[in-house]
Amino acid sequence: MDNPYQPYPVRVDQVITETVDEKLKTFKLVFLNPEDEQKFKYLPGQFAELSIPGKGEIPIGIASSPTEKGFLCFTVNEVGLVSTYLHMLKEGYVMGVRGPLGNWYPWEEMEGKNVVIVGGGFAFTTLRSSIVYMLDPANRGKFKDIEVVYGARTPGMLLYKEELAEWERRDDIRMHITVDGTDDPGWKYNKGFVPAIVKEKIKSAEDAIAIVCGPPIMIRFTQPVLEELGFPPERIIFSLEMRMKCGIGMCGRCNIGDQYVCKDGPVFSLAKLKQLPPEY
Ligand SMILES: Cc1cc2nc3c(=O)[nH]c(=O)nc-3n(C[C@H](O)[C@H](O)[C@H](O)COP(=O)(O)OP(=O)(O)OC[C@H]3O[C@@H](n4cnc5c(N)ncnc54)[C@H](O)[C@@H]3O)c2cc1C
Ligand code: FES
Repeated sequence: MDNPYQPYPVRVDQVITETVDEKLKTFKLVFLNPEDEQKFKYLPGQFAELSIPGKGEIPIGIASSPTEKGFLCFTVNEVGLVSTYLHMLKEGYVMGVRGPLGNWYPWEEMEGKNVVIVGGGFAFTTLRSSIVYMLDPANRGKFKDIEVVYGARTPGMLLYKEELAEWERRDDIRMHITVDGTDDPGWKYNKGFVPAIVKEKIKSAEDAIAIVCGPPIMIRFTQPVLEELGFPPERIIFSLEMRMKCGIGMCGRCNIGDQYVCKDGPVFSLAKLKQLPPEY
């Protein structure tokens, strides 16, 4: 049996600075051994532990889509010890990836339905994976309308700017990009917080499922808006971020009641969360 704590060796192939403050960077990683890529089978919503030898490892959502072959992408906010070391890495450095870990968005349930994606800040990573996955020609026909509400503090803090512009131009996905505020006269999208834009733009919950990933405050204010629109709790899907260590349900660091966020989550329906203690 493979050792679940053993990371796969990967090479940093590209580092992209995403935001004006340079605190968010996307790392494109390539497996050193092609057979490891075969073993690393994932679906959007899952995460992995990124490790730097001698420094530690951190859980990060997988930002690439399984439809993109030959690499994995992770977008990392520079907040503390390990993420700061990661930000110092240059192309060519060898590090580790352990995973894939956790569950995924309910893809089978989402088939044949309208999909509403709601994201805020740097948590847009696994939602980027989901959008690329759904727009792949092999998958697009499985879903009905796709609407995306994505917000950042300012235009310079949006992730994946070129892809956002490309999705804006497509007619098989409706984008509602927003920023909290800007005085840029060239800004042509929305202004306002994500929950307000959801309220304004999303017209119906009929035959729809909503997947939501963002900071706790955004989740707290988006939930009642979705409920008012008529989304039942089992069709509101959240991805949670808790402090984690092992990522495989062994250390007990991340539990809410009897659920381990690393193993039973990080994706939970609101219906499931309502059965758990309010610790998230
Ligand atoms: C399932 C999951 C997916 C995640 N996906 C992403 C992602 O795509 N991109 C990204 O940038 N970050 C993501 N995170 C958060 C990321 O794991 C933390 O920012 C990281 O562990 C910080 O490690 P550090 O050593 O740099 O900071 P530390 O030195 O450990 O801590 C620095 C600061 O960050 C806070 N912090 C540490 N760990 C977490 C955590 N797990 N959640 C919230 N705050 C934390 C600490 O309280 C402290 O204030 C995810 C977390 C989880 C659990
Ligand atoms: S992180 Fe160890 S049990 Fe979840």
